[in-house]
Amino acid sequence: MAFVNQNYCNLKESYLFSQIAHKVAEFSAAHPEKKIIKMGIGDVTLPLAPAVIEAMQKAVAEMGVKETFRGYGPEQGYDFLHEAIAKYYASFGVDVASDEIFISDGAKSDCGNMTDLFSNDNVILIPDPVYPVYLDTNVMCGRKIIYMQGKPENDFLPMPDDSVKADIIYLCSPNNPTGAVYTKEQLEKWVAYALKNDAVILYDAAYESFISDPSIPRSIFAVEGAKKCAIELCSLSKTAGFTGTRCGYTIVPHDLVRKTKDGQEMSLNKMWLRRQTTKFNGVPYIIQRGAEAVFSPEGQKQCREMLSFYKENARIMAEALTKKGIKFYGGTHSPYIWMQCPNGMGSWEFFDYLLEKLAVVGTPGAGFGSMGEGYFRLTAFGSRENTIEAMERIEKGL
Ligand code: MLT
Repeated sequence: MAFVNQNYCNLKESYLFSQIAHKVAEFSAAHPEKKIIKMGIGDVTLPLAPAVIEAMQKAVAEMGVKETFRGYGPEQGYDFLHEAIAKYYASFGVDVASDEIFISDGAKSDCGNMTDLFSNDNVILIPDPVYPVYLDTNVMCGRKIIYMQGKPENDFLPMPDDSVKADIIYLCSPNNPTGAVYTKEQLEKWVAYALKNDAVILYDAAYESFISDPSIPRSIFAVEGAKKCAIELCSLSKTAGFTGTRCGYTIVPHDLVRKTKDGQEMSLNKMWLRRQTTKFNGVPYIIQRGAEAVFSPEGQKQCREMLSFYKENARIMAEALTKKGIKFYGGTHSPYIWMQCPNGMGSWEFFDYLLEKLAVVGTPGAGFGSMGEGYFRLTAFGSRENTIEAMERIEKGL
């Protein structure tokens, strides 16, 4: 008899963003006359940068010619993309070797797949609120999960507590959903904690390109010692509008070594390479050429323009909430605004209210953890027109 993974019984009925999509589809079917404005999942709306399109078109043409056609590529990605990313890191003062970089179809996949490298008896420390993938993927493995609370009193930036013993620590900075960012001093404390406890930090830097203050680290590897205790996950989804194109990367340093339960020393870089070469066949050549173009001077300029556009949306949203006297966080180094639900409403209650009364979709804070109850996330990735209209509806209708 085939038994299934019982840990799945411990998951919520559906993944947060699927649940929202389902509710919105139902509402839309019942009210086809309503123009729904979606500010829920952080999906981009601007097209890919011209430099990216040009590079992909060139790669498509290469695929149609015998001499330049490519079949299977290296599972961990092509060197041209490793080198482009290594140069990008060097541009903000972080030294990463090409073979520490692994290309994938996005940070979400790597985040889930990374659970393969660690024993299931590790204790997992997860910020609350945070991107729900960290929790769900570890629930699937049946691991013990403990939480650290993000709240206004700590600026939604939980710090290490020596009385708590954790083996794997998830950090997300800029944080999804709150938009809070760790300073270098704060990250130094996390690195010190991880080194002291032989723990590993899984650092999600998916929103690093939204950081506009040069004193705030764009990478955990800006902190000394981090290469001995951290893995960094990153994505081109938000940086370059790749949500549908799919490309991300994970940095697993050579210096990161941990033991098996019977005491064998293992390089996590080698383990990840072994995992990826076995279970993954790489990102398509065409997409990797597009990703390479993101890091070219032209691509960077064009992507920065896109980021400025979304940041202006965030500013418009912040202005409207300020006018309404609604307390909010984020929106500066992040595409997300984390607002308090008005009139003491619960997160899902506010979600229903906003959808039914104003036809605006957001993400209930409770979907990111129990500390998110009473909060709500709005994304700045919409079109200018929809962002303005949604905020007008909120200003008039709340
Ligand atoms: C979000 O809305 O939190 C993200 O877009 C989801 C993701 O990146 O998978």
